[in-house]
Amino acid sequence: LDTFNAVVLGAGGVGKSALTVRWGRNEFLEQYNPTIEEEYRCDAEIDHERCLLNILDTPGTEQFTGLNEGHIKFGQGFILVFSLIDESSLRALDLIRHQIYQTKGMDVPIVIVGTKMDLAHEREVSRAAVQDLVQRWGHPVYETSAKRNWHVSDPFEDLVRQMRKR
Ligand code: GTP
Ligand code: MG
Repeated sequence: LDTFNAVVLGAGGVGKSALTVRWGRNEFLEQYNPTIEEEYRCDAEIDHERCLLNILDTPGTEQFTGLNEGHIKFGQGFILVFSLIDESSLRALDLIRHQIYQTKGMDVPIVIVGTKMDLAHEREVSRAAVQDLVQRWGHPVYETSAKRNWHVSDPFEDLVRQMRKR
């Protein structure tokens, strides 16, 4: 069975755990419990092929003290998460991205996820800004809601496809 290690990174409270748990267990984490470190093993069938995904869910506060190099080394693919209702969380991904490139090289499997799409009235990152990001960074971007279960599988499937090609 093909096994891949994926790492979920992004600022604190953006919804990394909620996204991961929605995908892995189809539950919504309503309560905010800051993550210390959590690893999920998920069986998935993507493009009619089974695989095992080890997903490392990381704490968001770490970006302020420097990323854990071990987390980056562990990953074969990365899910970079920001909140659509928090513009600064998008800017935080710039540093994370460059640290990944430094360790893994430029053609590393990456997907970007904007969360909390359901909170449309609080939105700070426009659709145009998201499209601009796709152009500039060259990674696929998905707008999701873990709460409403909107487009949650898309980034995980995309990442597995990228990792299979390597
Ligand atoms: P750290 O582990 O501290 O880095 O936070 P995190 O990025 O894992 O955030 P977490 O998944 O714990 O979510 C933080 C809060 O946002 C929780 O109260 C979630 O219920 C809420 N949340 C996450 N995703 C969504 C979403 O899609 N919509 C809404 N409305 N709330 C969300
Ligand atoms: Mg968390």
